[in-house]
Amino acid sequence: MNLKTFIRDIPDFPSKGVVFRDITPLLKDPKAIRYTQEALLDLVGGLKVDKVVGMESRGFFFAPMLAARLEAGFVPVRKPGKLPYNTIQQSYNLEYGSDVLEMHSDAIQKGDRVLVHDDVLATGGTAKATCELIEKMGGEIVQCNFLLELDFLNGKDKLLKFEVNSLLHY
Ligand code: PRP
Ligand code: ADE
Repeated sequence: MNLKTFIRDIPDFPSKGVVFRDITPLLKDPKAIRYTQEALLDLVGGLKVDKVVGMESRGFFFAPMLAARLEAGFVPVRKPGKLPYNTIQQSYNLEYGSDVLEMHSDAIQKGDRVLVHDDVLATGGTAKATCELIEKMGGEIVQCNFLLELDFLNGKDKLLKFEVNSLLHY
């Protein structure tokens, strides 16, 4: 299946000059969802994973499913003020802005093997901040996997310490 046919380009969203890669056509097609799930699982192969960390909000589309299939737990990383328990925070930069990410302070146990999942790797700010949160808590990052990567923004350069995989490249 050519997954790129399910990704729609929206010019100048959310700000002028950004081409937004919209994955909602993929999400409304059951065969494309299924194909994406299996392809994301294939990236992990036989690796042992204790926790899958997904980033708000589009990282939540596939990360809980990956966790269930890998017999791992799911951990949400959220924008500030959304998580109800004690949190740790990390600031980061986006292709179109900057923000803070939070994770519950008891979400990762020391030595946990962690798979990081998000829909898009752009500048890498979100993924880097997430990896910093995981490492602060003593987690070991086994892979950072994405549905799609915007190669020209060189997000991978912020994740040099880690194995990075993306199903699609733009
Ligand atoms: C998008 C995307 C990634 C992030 C990638 O999320 O889902 O999380 O940007 O960009 P980066 O590599 O430059 O950090 P966004 O912050 O737009 O939030 P959303 O998922 O709630 O739409
Ligand atoms: N996240 C950051 N940049 C993006 C883009 N161009 N399209 C979709 N999601 C993004």
